Amino acid sequence: METIHPDVEKVLLTEDQIHEIVTKLGDQITKDYAGKNPLIVCILRGAFIFTADLIRAIKVPCEVDFMAVSSYGSESQSSGVVRITKDLSTKIEGRDVIITEDILDSGLTLSYLYNLLKARNPKSIRICVFAVKDIPNKKAAIKPDYLGITVPNAFIVGYGLDYAEKYRNLLYLGVLKPEVYSSQKD
Ligand code: PRP
Repeated sequence: METIHPDVEKVLLTEDQIHEIVTKLGDQITKDYAGKNPLIVCILRGAFIFTADLIRAIKVPCEVDFMAVSSYGSESQSSGVVRITKDLSTKIEGRDVIITEDILDSGLTLSYLYNLLKARNPKSIRICVFAVKDIPNKKAAIKPDYLGITVPNAFIVGYGLDYAEKYRNLLYLGVLKPEVYSSQKD
């Protein structure tokens, strides 16, 4: 097993637990999309690892495309208005679209993207999120159709999720030590 990174306080999900969750999501999608050819829309960058695993757990034919967005406003808080830095190469009109995201926090990014893609007239559009943050007394702007796990309201890294572009390559999902993001000077 991978040794724990010194900046990580606690492991939330091991590689095996992640695999189990993603397999379940893949099974659900396989069942729901029988006879269809869904287009998976991966939102870069965080979702690329989850999406790579998810499509291999989906047993119906599917296609993948990528979109990259950057949020306006402060780094740590989503403003809800996103700028498309890379748009899809695929036309989604008439397609069964599944948006994949690594994490849903305020839900503003996904809510914006959902409306944007819906306006392009896909046949259907659903959201598949690996992790949703459990924020007390706060309702996310949008609810995923497929959800892997609910995580505590902490700084989550690994399995594609970063802090300052680091830790995406950790095999597990973990909580970052608060001193890492409170003492960063560069
Ligand atoms: C993360 C995540 C979502 C968004 C969720 O992206 O991938 O896109 O934040 O936050 P929200 O629900 O409050 O809108 P981030 O901006 O960290 O970019 P990244 O995917 O490139 O790491």
